[in-house]
Amino acid sequence: MRVLGIESSCDDTGVALYDSQLGLLVHRLASQIDTHQKYGGVVPELAARDHIRSIIPLIDSVLNNAEHPTKKPDAIAYTAGPGLAGALLVGASVGKSLAMAWDIPSIGVHHMEGHLLAPMLEADTPEPPFVALLVSGGHTMLVDVEKIGRYTVLGQTLDDAAGEAFDKTAKLLGLPYPGGPAIAIAALNGSAERFHFPRPMTNRPGLDFSFSGLKTFARTTAQENQLDKQTIADIAYAFEDAVADTLAIKCKRALQKTGHKRLVIAGGVGANRRLREKIDALVNSLNAKAYYPRIEFCTDNGAMIAYAGYCRLRAMGTNETRDAKSLAFNIQARWPLDSLK
Ligand code: KG4
Ligand code: ZN
Repeated sequence: MRVLGIESSCDDTGVALYDSQLGLLVHRLASQIDTHQKYGGVVPELAARDHIRSIIPLIDSVLNNAEHPTKKPDAIAYTAGPGLAGALLVGASVGKSLAMAWDIPSIGVHHMEGHLLAPMLEADTPEPPFVALLVSGGHTMLVDVEKIGRYTVLGQTLDDAAGEAFDKTAKLLGLPYPGGPAIAIAALNGSAERFHFPRPMTNRPGLDFSFSGLKTFARTTAQENQLDKQTIADIAYAFEDAVADTLAIKCKRALQKTGHKRLVIAGGVGANRRLREKIDALVNSLNAKAYYPRIEFCTDNGAMIAYAGYCRLRAMGTNETRDAKSLAFNIQARWPLDSLK
């Protein structure tokens, strides 16, 4: 089965082709960083308009790739939520329309399930059960993955997502959007000695997170000091270190609580090198193993949506496959992961 995957939930248009026999055949991305950078964050209406401009040329170039040209896929998977409603509607309506024209099934995919399954596109794949840390711009959660499709949320953020905290802290330091990579680069020149940020919610039991206090801590530190290049680097270092440490501490708890020996790290913040170093040290100490998507599949992409769609289509009965051919479609800006069946 060959599945065309379409991602348009936020500020990246991603399209990919996954083949159940051959694996991932091709993937393309149109990033909107240039559109949103001057505003310091994603402007939803501009995001939706950019998706409209990019989506058909991307689909064309994916299907007409040189190595595996594909006239018509066997199914289409599009991100149906969570995300920005206007942006989601672009991928969903294009995906549904093409499926109707080609008379093939289509399926709406949960964006975070896509992130969660992204490591399955690598050579060494995690076998369930495992714990997944999903850290993106909109979500931070620890999930017990009993098997593909059965998810129990063990803990999540009570306020800002980790990526959101990176983006907001970068903005107050005068660093460009997206903030995560900008903070990681600035932190390379930062001192480990100058500032120490708290590790929120680690001194009490539980697996929930809270990152808005760290952002405030960064603001206060910035106000109390001359904000020169070195100070920005030092704050970036202390902030990144605190977020990475906090995430690693909670991952340790989640592994101990569930007894699982495999840990998946996915979502945009999963690209962070410092976080990966801390997670690698953690799993070594616990005799466990960590699985990461390749860096480019940590952030939003069409490949993870094509793969997650394929898994769902494979698991469908005849009635559900008939539904997948109906014209009705729905997007959900908010959509809890553990409501998936
Ligand atoms: O998964 P993603 O592409 O989009 C959402 O689903 O939200 O994640 C984007 C988030 C942004 O907040 C961005 O700043 C963060 O991931 N990010 C990083 C890094 N690369 C992207 N955060 C920390 N370090 C990075 N290297
Ligand atoms: Zn995402």
